[in-house]
Amino acid sequence: AAVELGPYRHFMQKEIFEQPRAIGDTLQAVERIGPELLGLAPDAEPFKGIERVLILACGTSYYAGCVARYWLESIARVPCNVEVASEFRYRDPATDPATLVVVISQSGETADTLAALREAQSLGMTQTLAVCNVATSTMVRETSLQFITRAGVEIGVASTKAFTTQLVGLYLLTLLFAKARGRLDAAAEAEALKALRHLPAAVQSVVALEPQIIAWAEQFARKENALFLGRGMHYPIALEGALKLKEISYIHAEAYPAGELKHGPLALVTAAMPVVTVAPNDALVEKLKSNMQEVRARGGELYVFADAGTQIESSEGVHVIRMPEHYGALSPILHVVPLQLLAYHTATARGTDVDKPRNLAKSVTVE
Ligand code: G6P
Repeated sequence: AAVELGPYRHFMQKEIFEQPRAIGDTLQAVERIGPELLGLAPDAEPFKGIERVLILACGTSYYAGCVARYWLESIARVPCNVEVASEFRYRDPATDPATLVVVISQSGETADTLAALREAQSLGMTQTLAVCNVATSTMVRETSLQFITRAGVEIGVASTKAFTTQLVGLYLLTLLFAKARGRLDAAAEAEALKALRHLPAAVQSVVALEPQIIAWAEQFARKENALFLGRGMHYPIALEGALKLKEISYIHAEAYPAGELKHGPLALVTAAMPVVTVAPNDALVEKLKSNMQEVRARGGELYVFADAGTQIESSEGVHVIRMPEHYGALSPILHVVPLQLLAYHTATARGTDVDKPRNLAKSVTVE
């Protein structure tokens, strides 16, 4: 059946609002998170000999991989590399057969990701997992393990619900690795599962921030540049926020890990440069606050996505939208949602073709 827009103006908006459902369906498909996840027990081949993870992907899927790297290393203690597929396939990498190669793709047909997968296989890395939204895709056929996200058909060129459901799959993978390596005791597992089960409701309360984000978008629509800052596992979320904004509103946006600010981008900061800051109340928040002061001292306007625990208040030049909860390890899944909405409403305010941005394709099946 044709996918209907319903009450929404664009598919992208519909897909943003569908995320609680998409995440719930993705979790439900797993049913029980234990040895059965991905159809294999932690002590079974091919999980056994695995010493590291290599993630290959493009675009938004690549940023999902960048978040997963933080999880895999800090929670499961598995060394992890993430690489843009179009680079990996040509760089003649040094490889290790004790690697699980994870390809992440909404479509399962992206030419560079497929070629990178085949390159990895030809270099002897035959243990492969696809995190993919299309069960009948080439990538699913060509990998030994699969995690199918249940986002449903994604029509907007700018990926939204595919991204957040990929993150759910990658977090489950992290839990499985952690369990297999004795890094997840029963209490920690129960805690992680509880947070996952509550995630659809948590995302629902974030999309409800839309009216506040629309007010910001009206200001962004008049800008030509924007800078996004994040730290730790929210640095890839800042990258994704900048990508969303440039893809659909055509505003030049770039993202930096906030600690790099004084190594270049601070030179760009003036009153004309909005600086979006992803600011959950995590271990890095105090360092982030001093990065924000550096921006304010140069007259930059800060647009801060804080959470329930972040001690930052609105003041002259500092605008704050507060996410209702602090969400620990799963916080990137919540923090990307207001960035999707900010890009969406900025683009609609500028009158661009949100679902089909110029020069871009939903699925890039040629090199
Ligand atoms: C294109 C799309 C992006 C997507 C990327 C990777 O650039 O416009 O939204 O993130 O391809 O696509 P994939 O299907 O492999 O996730």
